[in-house]
Amino acid sequence: MLAPIPRLEDYGLSPQYGFLPRELPLQRLPHPVYDKWERIINNFQSLLLSKRLRTVIDRLPILPTSHLDTEPEWRRAYSMLAFMAHGYIWGGEKPSEILPPPITYPLLQVSAHLGVPPVATYSAVCLWNYKPIFLSDNLTLDNLSTLTTFTGSLDEQWFYLVSVALEATGGPAIPLMLNAIDAARCDQPEEVTRCLRTFAEIIDDLGGLLIRMYENCDAHVFYHRIRPYLAGSKNMRDAGLPHGVRYDDGSGNPTWRQYGGGSNAQSSLIQFFDIVLGIEHRPTGEKRNESSESEAEPGMAPQARHNFIQDMRQYMPGSHRKFLQAVENVANIREYVESHRSNRQLCIAYDACLAMLRALRDKHIQMVSRYIIVKSRESRSMSHTRKQDSHATPGPTHGAGIASVKYDPTGDKKSEKSGSGSRGKRLRGTGGTALIPFLRQARDETGEPAIDAWAKKLMSGARRSQADAEIEADNRAYAGQLGMVGSDSARDESALVVGMAGSWNMEDNGGGLCQY
Ligand code: HEM
Repeated sequence: MLAPIPRLEDYGLSPQYGFLPRELPLQRLPHPVYDKWERIINNFQSLLLSKRLRTVIDRLPILPTSHLDTEPEWRRAYSMLAFMAHGYIWGGEKPSEILPPPITYPLLQVSAHLGVPPVATYSAVCLWNYKPIFLSDNLTLDNLSTLTTFTGSLDEQWFYLVSVALEATGGPAIPLMLNAIDAARCDQPEEVTRCLRTFAEIIDDLGGLLIRMYENCDAHVFYHRIRPYLAGSKNMRDAGLPHGVRYDDGSGNPTWRQYGGGSNAQSSLIQFFDIVLGIEHRPTGEKRNESSESEAEPGMAPQARHNFIQDMRQYMPGSHRKFLQAVENVANIREYVESHRSNRQLCIAYDACLAMLRALRDKHIQMVSRYIIVKSRESRSMSHTRKQDSHATPGPTHGAGIASVKYDPTGDKKSEKSGSGSRGKRLRGTGGTALIPFLRQARDETGEPAIDAWAKKLMSGARRSQADAEIEADNRAYAGQLGMVGSDSARDESALVVGMAGSWNMEDNGGGLCQY
């Protein structure tokens, strides 16, 4: 028997707005016991600016979660505590290696309740952190405002709100494509075609929304002011967290924990698109048809490969993760289209969805290059210049440690000295990958299921996209700046760049090893 098609209400999804909550995020917890948290959040930026957040939190009583009644209340509590936790860790001269009981005790409980890790995930800062400006209007980008930010800047608001608007705009694609799955089961090709056409248009709209990021989120503010607060605690040795963060919940048994930072890679929407279209993302670095066994040493089990996109599911709310699993069990569109190759309208509609999603990923690569790769290079050449200038006044330490963090990719100081290992060699699998190559792989995999041979070729990655051209030009300019030639330009040094959820090597056009 076929598995039942999942129902949105069973997973708390909204037919209109998808993974955004069915009820708007609460702007305040109703029980007065939580007024102390609310007061901190109301004065959050001032407390961070004056560097008083830690002392204020240290003096807080440990509040129980027993006065949280409804799901919106649990979500508000989680979002507030996640902001407080990251503010506490990153809001000082040095990062704090300890999260104290007033945060840890309730945060561990609300996270367990919601099925999310106890850090600032995409749900804490985007999905559960917005309000409409006018209640009567739809959740469009022009009718949204954020509830909490670290910096109080418009840039940070915009960074979160573009994502909220993307979720809202993409939301209707969920019931639409569940309907397409049902239509494929009933062998109704016209209905499947209709759904795919509308889906392609929705994805195209998302591409238009994504590039609105440039309107109000400045790359410099993003890289130096916003991103450092979203950083995680995994592979953060050089940022000052060699063991991660010690979660002290007051039980006398504090635990060291390491988590990735908040990232849009934790959005369930894009993963839903991949699943429903039958797009497969291989572990990073693995080519098509490449058997993992081919890489195994004789007599050894093949190495477990690192699949970043799959791993990001652990950072989604439990109900969203379960929904994606349920959709995986019923996804049939790719097989249906493949078995109806003679139906041109159907195949064109399917290929159009892939093309739109690929184009969305291409725009995103360009964005990551502008907001992270270029900024990271700029800040490294600045620090190089500063080192050379002995009269230079030291800059503020805040944020710089995270933004310009460098690692030994092997995690082993000795190999750095011996020079035998990581520098020229590309580590793969669980060792990690490079940022831009990882994103390119995800983009190119998007086009792989295309039915039409010409469409397949066009989307195969052999053709240079706008993002590729821009990145190449940036690489050349950067190489010129460093006085490098040829392939040296892509392999400028062993520095890693802290992305969002992950930390990535800068080699190979901005990549090398995912240290997430
Ligand atoms: C300033 C804007 C953005 C920057 C700098 C950025 C940066 C990144 C980075 C560095 C990664 C690699 C994984 C990590 O380290 O977390 C990533 C992955 C990802 N981002 Fe973004 N991102 C931005 C906006 C967005 C938006 C608005 C979306 C929503 C569509 C999005 C969706 C994704 C997805 C789905 C991935 C996983 C890779 C994939 O599936 O192709 N990003 N992003």
